[in-house]
Amino acid sequence: MSLPPGISEVLFSEAQLQRRVAELAAAISADYAGLTPLLVGVLRGVVPFMADLLRRLTVPAMVDFMAISSYRAGSPGGQVRLLKDLEISVEGRHVLFVEDMVDTGLSLHYLLRLLRERRPASLYVCTLFDKPRLRLVNLPLRYVGFQLPDRYVVGYGLDFRQRYRNLPYVGVLSADLLLADGPPLPSAAQGGPP
Ligand code: IMP
Repeated sequence: MSLPPGISEVLFSEAQLQRRVAELAAAISADYAGLTPLLVGVLRGVVPFMADLLRRLTVPAMVDFMAISSYRAGSPGGQVRLLKDLEISVEGRHVLFVEDMVDTGLSLHYLLRLLRERRPASLYVCTLFDKPRLRLVNLPLRYVGFQLPDRYVVGYGLDFRQRYRNLPYVGVLSADLLLADGPPLPSAAQGGPP
């Protein structure tokens, strides 16, 4: 398979991702039997994972999204700012927080605290990827797709400067691209027109 510019290797193929998502969906469906969980995701990286997970659940489920500006995106005090709140009330609901990636855990820590204050009946986390070596706060993760070493990966929703989200697999970003700062990526790297 020829890889797009900027991708040095495929870490998880489309088939591997889909197999693991199916396993997670089966575990979640079993644990939530008889309930209607509310799946909560943070835009935008979680979209492909959330869509695939939802379609494989065998229990009825609701879905809603939040948007945040992460501490990475320029809040020097280490704070997370809520840009879009949920539209469905979490009070009394069984909430499953669905994440694409937990790294330091700081964004998730902030969001879980926020949701806990709203008194859900239960609150658990499902993440497709986990980088435990980078964790700064202790977080309970009930469902984990894959554990990753400290490598920057893209695809299946994960981006580098908003690119590569559309790749159906997860690949490793080449080191020279990661180190280069500022200039826009070549449009070929997006797999289509800018
Ligand atoms: P943290 O757990 O608060 O440090 O942040 C997790 C967020 O960082 C994820 O939701 C991603 O948006 C981003 N992130 C961390 N590692 C990667 C990566 O390897 N590729 C793409 N995004 C990443």
